[in-house]
Amino acid sequence: SADSSTETERTLAIIKPDGVSGNHTNSVKETILNHGFKITEESLIQLDEDRVKRFYAEHSSRSFFPSLVEYMTSGPVLIMVLEKGNAIADWRALIGPTDPLKAKVTHPHSVRAICGLNLQENCVHGSDSPQSASREISFFFKTTSSGYASKHDEL
Ligand code: TYD
Ligand code: MG
Repeated sequence: SADSSTETERTLAIIKPDGVSGNHTNSVKETILNHGFKITEESLIQLDEDRVKRFYAEHSSRSFFPSLVEYMTSGPVLIMVLEKGNAIADWRALIGPTDPLKAKVTHPHSVRAICGLNLQENCVHGSDSPQSASREISFFFKTTSSGYASKHDEL
């Protein structure tokens, strides 16, 4: 279709350490599939400090950055590529506001409201723009003749 609002897009989703350790992986994946996304790639990986610092480089000067890096390296994360029309905005809408405690009030059915613990341990990541999605997908996956492959050691 020529309608840009329904153009097929890919976005990066991450189930963060609190989501994986809190056993939210299956319910989050079910929510993703129930909302019409295809999960075209997935890989369970352990991030190291260097990779998190590069992934979240835009936040490197923020006071929460050292804590964010420590948290994101505290256990395995599930990285996924999601695909559907308008995937980038739709996945952001589905995960809800950054702070789960606010999400519980304003977006009670969002993933972060249901699964998140606090502003830092907010269960999931979603790319915030087409530019971010493109950067973040190629940060974690390399394109091959048959699709994508993880650039990281799978657990
Ligand atoms: P940000 O990009 O602002 O949020 P989002 O994940 O919704 O795009 O921030 C990146 C992550 O940093 C966020 O998911 C959780 C963490 N964070 C904090 O720990 N403290 C903060 O004050 C903010 C703004 C974010
Ligand atoms: Mg962000």
